[in-house]
This record gives sequence, C-alpha cells and structure tokens, in this order.
Amino acid sequence: MRLDKFLAEAGLGSRKEVKQLIKKGQITVNQQIEKSDKKQVDPEKDRIEYRGELLHYQEFYYYVLHKPAGVVSATEDQRDQTVMDLFSAKDYRSDLFPVGRLDKDTEGLLLITNDGKLAHELLSPKKHVEKEYFAEVSGVMTDEDQQKFTEGIFLDGERTLPAELSIDEVTGETSKVRIILHEGKFHQVKRMVKSCGKEVTYLKRIRMGGLTLPQDLAKGKYRLLTEDELRRLKG
Ligand code: URA
Repeated sequence: MRLDKFLAEAGLGSRKEVKQLIKKGQITVNQQIEKSDKKQVDPEKDRIEYRGELLHYQEFYYYVLHKPAGVVSATEDQRDQTVMDLFSAKDYRSDLFPVGRLDKDTEGLLLITNDGKLAHELLSPKKHVEKEYFAEVSGVMTDEDQQKFTEGIFLDGERTLPAELSIDEVTGETSKVRIILHEGKFHQVKRMVKSCGKEVTYLKRIRMGGLTLPQDLAKGKYRLLTEDELRRLKG
C-alpha cells in the first residue's frame, strides 16, 4: 500500500497532513528517510517510524458504545446529534459506522466498526444473530403474549421469526420484560408489544450475539472491544 495511506490509517493525520510529514523528512521506512508519499510499503514487513516512534497499522476497529437516548444511529444528520458525534477527535475515523439502528429514544449496546463484512454478517436476516432487549411496558404482559412472541407476530403482513419474551416483573399496570429477537425489523420490539395491546415506555439493547453491554460502560461512552469480546461476537 502507499506510504501516505499507511500513515493515515495508522492515525497520524489526514492524507494531506501525512504528506506534509513525509515532505519534511519525518518518516523513515526501514531506518531510511522516505520523501515520496507514493512509496509502496508492506505493513507486515516494513518498519515505519515517525520521529523514531514505530507505527502500527490496523485495518479494522471495533467499538462498543452505550448509546444514550436522544442521539440517532447514523453517521450524519441535519438536525440531531449522531452516535459518531460521541467519538473524540482522536478516535474518530470517517469510515466508522454503527452496525444497525437503534431508535432515537432507545438506549444500550451499539457496535461501531469499519468492518463492513462483519456488519453484514451480524445484520443478515439469514444469520439470525440474537438481539436481546430490556423493556419497560405500560400494561401487564401475560403468558398469552409470551405465546404470541414464540409463534411470531404479523407486522406489515409478514410473520416475525419466533421471538422470546421473559417477564421479569409486573407491578400494578407496568411490566419489566426481556425480549430476544433473531432479526431487526423497523421498530420491531415496540410494534410487537403494541400488537399485544401494550406500549413500550423504555427500551435498552443489552446483547447482540455473543457481545453483552459492559456493566461499567456509562451512557454516552464507548471503548474498543477486547479480543475476547470480538471472538465471541464473531461466533
Ligand atoms: N426495536 C425497537 O422497537 N426499537 C429499537 O430501537 C430496537 C428494536
């Protein structure tokens, strides 16, 4: 790959900024100052340094974000703050994107990556990757509702895949439940609950496949996945 691409990918700056560093003679390739931004380098074999500091190239980044309510799951938006606005300038890259969408008022686990292939696999309806939600509901969820979820519910004339509803707590006219889906239709949890005649008042995603929302990750915060988390997510 070209040296300027390598440097930008290594997080040293934009393509334009790294070209300046190369011009100024601040980059060495295998201990030799390199002044051509077009120089072809092999990230696996060549030793590339900036002012004597060894640079590492990483192609893919995987972050887990605890999405707060009020921000949209998009890379850009005219009106609202996006999940990418929660990233610091140091970590932000223009190729990062959220894997799937949570509604603006939904909180919880969102994977942010630049790995399109993994994103596709996690979202593909054929792969049936589980998504688990915690919901507070206005109304009493019942065993019959549980049965409906198991059988699948018609949304826009199509039956959902079997889903699991666990009722954690019912207090007066409100219920706390956990729901596991194997697909991700538009507003799916809210619409499935609505078809039982009740309403979701709070929704939080707590798991996607093998990746659980870390307990100690505050709302609005993100961090890189550990190797173990990534392995579990990839299944
Ligand atoms: N289902 C919903 O209704 N909303 C979400 O954000 C996610 C799942």
